[in-house]
Parts: sequence; structure tokens; C-alpha cells
Amino acid sequence: MTLTGWIIYNGSLQSKKFLDFAMMLQLAAKKQYIDTILFTNNQLLTYLYEQSKLLTKGEKNLPDFVIFTDKDIYLAQHLEMLGIPVFNRAEAIEISDDKIRTYQLLAKHHLPIPKTIVAPKAFSNHHLDHFYNLELIIETLRLPLIVKEAFGSFGEQVYLIHTKEELRKKVHEIHGKSFLFQQFIETSYGKDIRLQVVGNQVVTAMKRTSKNDFRANITTGGEMEAYYPSEREKTLAIQATQAIGADFAGVDLLFGENEQPIICEINSNAHIRNIYECTHINPADFIIDHIIQTLGIKDEKNDK
Ligand SMILES: Nc1ncnc2c1ncn2[C@@H]1O[C@H](COP(=O)(O)OP(=O)(O)O)[C@@H](O)[C@H]1O
Ligand SMILES: [Mg+2]
Repeated sequence: MTLTGWIIYNGSLQSKKFLDFAMMLQLAAKKQYIDTILFTNNQLLTYLYEQSKLLTKGEKNLPDFVIFTDKDIYLAQHLEMLGIPVFNRAEAIEISDDKIRTYQLLAKHHLPIPKTIVAPKAFSNHHLDHFYNLELIIETLRLPLIVKEAFGSFGEQVYLIHTKEELRKKVHEIHGKSFLFQQFIETSYGKDIRLQVVGNQVVTAMKRTSKNDFRANITTGGEMEAYYPSEREKTLAIQATQAIGADFAGVDLLFGENEQPIICEINSNAHIRNIYECTHINPADFIIDHIIQTLGIKDEKNDK
């Protein structure tokens, strides 16, 4: 039986990065003789009724699987509701997208993360300084500290705060959004490692170093080099991926004291172009292999 798949990416973002990721997956699938169709999320309308379905222009047959490179959780959930295996599953994407949910789960699994305080939910911005108890936060995490919005990427919603006044300004500025306060891992200033996990293995990794920013993201000026992770680093990346229930993920680790790895974040939709160009290992091939294996295992179980 030949498999057919859909690859879904976001239709509202202008950057070519999103289509590029989808096309890398399509090419990897083609190498394994799997036909896939690319859809933007808005080309599939989730129609809710007693018999829920998808409204599409043209394509009528549902696929054997979906690779979901977008964060449109409602669409991912809808596809699952229709019985289609979705990679990554909706719940994993949802947790990964929300840094607070991610740290909650990592803490629940007793995995190493920077000390983190979740900002209490505020409905109005009166008396915010008092509301957030900035003294206790500074006393617990020390300055400088990190403020991080729950939803963000490319390092754009991550801030390094040096003084109480700066902290006060920042909480006023981002008030109304979900965010957290976090210990700044000083030993990791401007550097981190990205491990690409697929299934239960690390398939490739790179180190990112920035000369002029505390953030190591490539988008903020980080430079990359191939990296050969230790067993401890690999185990941690796999445990982190499993903690959020992802099939594959790009896991960022920080360097703690004595190079002890600390989990920074888990990207269920990590773009793979950079790591591929850096290490010449294409995670897309591993992702397709993993999906074939997972579906194969399921089929065998159903046959019994
Ligand atoms: N607690 C921290 N201590 C030190 N550096 C951090 C910390 N949190 C984030 N960073 C740096 O900022 C970068 C971006 O943070 P991250 O949480 O991965 O957000 P994003 O999703 O925007 O990439 C990381 O790659 C790392 O270099
Ligand atoms: Mg990151």
C-alpha cells in the first residue's frame, strides 16, 4: 500500500522559510516514493457540525498522515478528530508553542531548566509593580534576569533585564500577554546548542554562537558550527522531546556551570534548513522514516 500525506504550513506569513521547510519534507517524502500535497492552513476549513469535516477546494480524499509544520492548533486538532495521524500531534505543538506549558512539563519531569517564575495573570495595569512583587522576583532569580513571553520565536520576545527599573518598564510594556521571569544562565551568554531529535534519537546538532547578543539565535546574529553532543546532552534532548509528546523537535540547550546542560526550549516546528546546511545531515529524511515506521507499527497492531 502506498501512503499519501499532506504537509501543512502557514498561509499568512510572508517569509519564505515556512514554505521552504514544507518543501524539504515533500522532497524527502518523494525520495521514499510517498506522494504529498502541500496545503496552507487556510486552504482547509474546519467545518464543525454533527458530522464534522474539512472544506477544501478540489481535494476530497483524506490523507494517510499529515505533517503539520504550522501552529494552527484548531486545525491540527480537527484533523486528529477526523482520525488522521498528525505529526507532530496537536498537543505537542500546543505545548511547544507555549513556553510556560513547556517549562511546567519539564519541571514535572524533573528535567533541568533555568529557575522560572510564571507572571500571574493581570487584567488591568493599575499597580502592576506591586502586583508582580518585583522585589521577591529579583531576590529569587537575581539580576540580570530574563523576561520571556510565552509565545515567541527567533529570540524576538526574550529580554535580558539588568535593573529593577528596566524590569518595571518591561512588565508594563508586555502587560496583558502571558510571560515569565527566568534565571539568566550567564555561562551560556551568546551561545547554545540545537539538537535535532527524531523519534528516540538525536540525528544532528549544531552550536550557535553570537558575538554581539546574549541570544544565540541565527536570526539575531548567531553563527553556527557542527556540534557533537555528549551522551548526557543527547539523553536530555530526547527526554525533553518525550516530555511534551513530540515525535520530532529541535531542542535548545544552554551551558550551565561546568558545561552542565540546561533545557532552554523545545521547538516542535523547528526549521531545518540551517542545521542541514551546517551539518549536511537532513532531518527531513529522518522525519519521513520515522513517520513510515510509526504508521507501519500501527498497521501491524491493527492487523492483529
Ligand atoms: N534563561 C536563559 N539564560 C541565558 N540565555 C537564555 C535564556 N533563555 C534564553 N536564552 C537565550 O535566548 C535565546 C532565545 O530564547 P528561547 O527561549 O529559545 O526563545 P525563542 O523561541 O525566541 O528562540 C536562546 O537561544 C538563548 O541563547
Ligand atoms: Mg530558541
